[in-house]
Amino acid sequence: MLIKTPRGWEIPESQATPETVFLDRRRFLTGMAIGGAAAAAPVGLSAPAWAAKGEVDPTADLYPVPQNLRYRLDRPVTDEEDAITYNNFYEFGSHKRIHRAAQSLNLRPWQVKIDGMVEAEMTVDIDDLIRRMPLEERLYRHRCVEAWSMAVPWSGFPMKALVDMAKPLSGAKYVTMETFKDASVASGQKAFWYPWPYLEGLTIEEATNDLAFLVTGAYGKPVPKQMGAPLRLAVPWKYGFKSIKSIVRFSFTDQRPVSFWEQIQAKEYGFWANVNPEVPHPRWSQATERVLGTGDRVPTLLYNGYGEFVADLYKGMEGKERLFL
Ligand code: MTE
Repeated sequence: MLIKTPRGWEIPESQATPETVFLDRRRFLTGMAIGGAAAAAPVGLSAPAWAAKGEVDPTADLYPVPQNLRYRLDRPVTDEEDAITYNNFYEFGSHKRIHRAAQSLNLRPWQVKIDGMVEAEMTVDIDDLIRRMPLEERLYRHRCVEAWSMAVPWSGFPMKALVDMAKPLSGAKYVTMETFKDASVASGQKAFWYPWPYLEGLTIEEATNDLAFLVTGAYGKPVPKQMGAPLRLAVPWKYGFKSIKSIVRFSFTDQRPVSFWEQIQAKEYGFWANVNPEVPHPRWSQATERVLGTGDRVPTLLYNGYGEFVADLYKGMEGKERLFL
């Protein structure tokens, strides 16, 4: 007999989205966009359309992974269909409906390079990396700089485990991360006015903070391509653009990296980018956020509600540095 045990984040039937909210949500889904690009792509693709490609992830047997109960949500998990069909992934287009286009990404072979100020540079195969890391599930909020948010059950491992493996030299102060670069599969990368590859960075202290998480899965399965397979970052106290997708390289350095968005518009997308409702984006307020799925507008919290984990990282820096956009 098959007994289905609901996973921790599965919402009871009684909380299923009513139709009016669903319709409202669909209106919301044609909303705002980073960098000012418009979002108005067609709606409604059922999951099997991309699953039908028949690709089998070599790490699929690892999921679901045990949930770490230290990380709790104040809201329901976002409906999977919403989270996987409303994405920012400029490599595949500057709108939110890139989930079909992202299926052209080839996930294997996939190698991750670790270089720069480390004891020994190395290149690791993604399957070896995933299998040697301590996988767990965490429920995290995600707050996009465009003022929408979601809550996702990510699977993955603490970024600290990768930093420990990399053995950075004592002089290393930052870790720079890079996304793949291949315009033959990611047509967005043909847009020559963007500084590809997508690049992001953290201080070593941020990267080794308990909350910094390297994602390999979502919703109890390998993470889908449009969400940044096979390896993405989740730093939930920062605006979503810091959570770089489809990473191929970690470089340890003593120089503060200038991220993809910072190169494009430094005044709007700074290095720290910690969530703060009181510091508006130059073009819109950050005081509230629209919840993906329900369309509810809720107050935004300092550090996206994760101050207990990360506020100490920035003690004494207030006023000296532009910590929030
Ligand atoms: N990573 C890459 N490589 N390219 C991107 O365009 N967009 C960022 C971030 N990581 C982006 C990226 C932004 S702005 C957000 S809000 C999140 O990915 C969106 O993640 P999601 O599509 O899983 O919601």
